[in-house]
Amino acid sequence: MSDEFRALLLEQDEAGETSVQLRALSEADLPDEDVLVAVEYSSLNYKDGLAITGKGRVVRDFPMIPGIDLAGTVLSSRSEQYSPGDRVVLTGWGAGERHWGGYSQRQRVRPDWLVRLPDTLSTRDAMAIGTAGFTAMLCVMALESAGITPDSGEVLVTGASGGVGSVAVAILAKLGYEVAAVTGRPEGSDWLRQLGAASIIPRADMAQPPRPLESQRWAGAVDTVGGVILARVLAETCYGGTVTACGLAGGVDLPTTVMPFILRNVALQGVDSVMCPPARRQQAWERLARDLPGDRLTALTQEVSLEQLPELAPKILAGKVRGRVVVSLAD
Ligand SMILES: NC(=O)c1ccc[n+]([C@@H]2O[C@H](COP(=O)([O-])OP(=O)(O)OC[C@H]3O[C@@H](n4cnc5c(N)ncnc54)[C@H](OP(=O)(O)O)[C@@H]3O)[C@@H](O)[C@H]2O)c1
Repeated sequence: MSDEFRALLLEQDEAGETSVQLRALSEADLPDEDVLVAVEYSSLNYKDGLAITGKGRVVRDFPMIPGIDLAGTVLSSRSEQYSPGDRVVLTGWGAGERHWGGYSQRQRVRPDWLVRLPDTLSTRDAMAIGTAGFTAMLCVMALESAGITPDSGEVLVTGASGGVGSVAVAILAKLGYEVAAVTGRPEGSDWLRQLGAASIIPRADMAQPPRPLESQRWAGAVDTVGGVILARVLAETCYGGTVTACGLAGGVDLPTTVMPFILRNVALQGVDSVMCPPARRQQAWERLARDLPGDRLTALTQEVSLEQLPELAPKILAGKVRGRVVVSLAD
C-alpha cells in the first residue's frame, strides 16, 4: 500500500480568509495519536459547512482536515483497546475543529474517541447516520428518559428535511410515535411522509412569534433550529412535555418566556453530541443499529466524493441539502 493518500485541507491566510484544497499527504503528516484508521466514509454536517466556508469560526487551528465524523477500519494501533481490522466510528470530540477530521483517506485518532461499530452496521451505514443521526438518537433517548412514550401524544421535529431532523423522523416513526414534521420545503412532503411523518407543518406557521402560551399540541419535540421556532414549540408543548434542543439552523437566540416552564411543567433538554460520554455513545449506536430501518436510511442518503464538498458546503448552510450526505473516501 502506498504511503500517499488524499485529504481535503483547509488553510487560512493572514486576512483570515479560509481556502480549501485536495492534497496528497503521507502518514508522517498525520497527528501523533495512537490509532491509525483507514477512513472509508465520512459525512457532511451543518458544522462541516461552517468549517469549509470559514463561517462561524468552528476551526480552531490551521491547517485543518475538516470532517467532524468518520468510519473505517483500524490499520494499526498502539492502544490495547483496538487491533488492526476493527471497524470503528468517530463523531465529535473536536474532530474537524481542533483535531484533524474525517475528510482524509487515513487519520490518526485517540482510542477514547472511537466506538466499535455494531456488527449489523456497515461503515457506510455509520456515516449515512453520522453525527447528525447520532444526535437525532441522543434526542430520542432524551425524550424517552423524560418519560415521553408513543402514548404521550404527537411529537414534533423541526428542520425535518435536514440531517438531524430526517433521521429523528425515521427513528421516532419506527418506535411508534406520531410524528409531525416542520419544514420550509413543502415539495419534500411526500419524502418526509415516506420516512414516517404523519403530518407536515409549514415552517412559516411555526415562525410566527408566539404568545407566552399557545394551545397545547406536542407531547415532545426534537428541535434543530432554535430561534422563534423553538420559542413557539415551547409555547405549544403540552403540560409535562419535553423539548430537546440540539441545533441553531434558524438562529442562536431564544425569545421565550418562563410561562411554559412554570405553568405547564415543560422541560427544555439540551443535547450535545460532541462531548457525549463513551457509555452513552455505545448505547446510542446500538440503538441506531436496531431502531433505524435500513430502507429509510437508504431513502434519506446521497453519496458524494471529497471533490464535491466545497460546492456542497454553502448549500447545507442555506438549508438546500436534503437528508444525509455520506462522503466516500474511495479512490
Ligand atoms: N448539539 C449537537 O451536538 C449537534 C449535532 C449535530 C447537529 N447540530 C446542529 O443541529 C442543526 C441541524 O444540523 P444538520 O446537520 O441536520 O443540518 P441540516 O442538514 O442543514 O438541517 C437543518 C435544517 O433546518 C431547516 N432550516 C434551515 N435554515 C432554517 C431557518 N433559517 N429557519 C428554520 N429552519 C431552517 C432546514 O430544514 P427544512 O428545509 O425541512 O425546514 C434544514 O434542512 C445545526 O444547527 C447543527 O449545528 C448539533
